[in-house]
Amino acid sequence: MKVRAEKPEDLEAIRRVNVAAFEREGEADLVDRLRGAASTFSFVAVESEQIVGHIFFSPVSIVQSGRSANVGECAGDLRVLGLAPVAVSPEYQRQGIGSLLIQFGLKECTRLGFKAVVVLGSPAYYPRFGFIPAKEKGLRCEYPVPDEAFMVLELESGALEGCAGLVKYRSEFNQLE
Ligand SMILES: CC(C)(COP(=O)(O)OP(=O)(O)OC[C@H]1O[C@@H](n2cnc3c(N)ncnc32)[C@H](O)[C@@H]1OP(=O)(O)O)[C@@H](O)C(=O)NCCC(=O)NCCS
Repeated sequence: MKVRAEKPEDLEAIRRVNVAAFEREGEADLVDRLRGAASTFSFVAVESEQIVGHIFFSPVSIVQSGRSANVGECAGDLRVLGLAPVAVSPEYQRQGIGSLLIQFGLKECTRLGFKAVVVLGSPAYYPRFGFIPAKEKGLRCEYPVPDEAFMVLELESGALEGCAGLVKYRSEFNQLE
């Protein structure tokens, strides 16, 4: 099992993995819409030369509320990513591949200088990688989701201090139902 950055020849296989894992086209379409945008990262898990898993990161912005006291408190160069989607082919799930992809991805995001990662997903899964409810850092999701499903991981301790606000994904996410 190997995890590496996607290559141009991987695109069809990445679509297949996402469609199979989510049982719909939405996430595969989302990845195709986002690919190539600034600060997006795409990694694949390869087993016997076959792509069996995929993870994608794209930049989010934190919109601070009108409270003037907050303006400027958040470091101007704060770089935060959203983890979405992550998918493993159904026949390869529960073998640790999702964990490998997430750990590899988070390490790369850290190496590339990003300060935090948010994720919208199962509160039973992501805390094992260090994610905590984003609400604890004063971060809210732009979508109507249960508080515990929106999580954040600081890649650098204290990076989110003074950074409370509304987290907005790229507009490409709005087309995902
Ligand atoms: C989520 C996903 C990527 C995990 O990949 P994986 O390779 O199966 O994950 P791992 O083998 O590393 O981890 C399996 C563990 O995660 C748990 N888990 C996996 N997906 C979960 C989910 N959606 N909710 C809760 N727990 C989940 C399993 O119960 C298992 O727990 P255990 O180790 O206590 O038995 C994969 O299940 C998948 O593609 N699911 C469909 C797409 C999806 O829902 N993606 C996430 C959107 S946020």
